[in-house]
Amino acid sequence: MQKGITVEKILLECESKAQNLLPTLKKIGVVFGYVSKEDAMKVAEYFELSLARVYEVASFYDLIETKKTANLEIKVCSGGDCVLGDSTGIVHEIENYFRIKAGDENNPKVKLRKISCLGRCGEGPIMIVNGRVYEKVTRSSIYKILEEWA
Ligand code: FES
Repeated sequence: MQKGITVEKILLECESKAQNLLPTLKKIGVVFGYVSKEDAMKVAEYFELSLARVYEVASFYDLIETKKTANLEIKVCSGGDCVLGDSTGIVHEIENYFRIKAGDENNPKVKLRKISCLGRCGEGPIMIVNGRVYEKVTRSSIYKILEEWA
């Protein structure tokens, strides 16, 4: 979390227009790690939308979490180009390393998710660890990346 930033400050930085909803939710997600129910309610009030609409937009976008995440949250792109670059093998390598399964929400320490194309196909395979994006990831390079977070 970045010091001194509040949801209210983030909201005041933008006009309450519909096109600003998604960028605002993304920013809250990046700053706080997820969009809590309390924050979603503030966003709904600011944009004069229902809470359901705010959650609908937030949950549509893979990079926005609506629940507090695990200590280590790993996302691997499973879009076509990244799969061609072995993102499936990368997911298996991470699953074996942590003895977890992608999509398992029950592990409190590590969470691994396959996500859809991020539009950065030329730099793939893409892996995101706690919001930090890594490009051209390979099965062998994941260990160096994970060391940074150990
Ligand atoms: S397929 Fe992975 S970024 Fe597009």
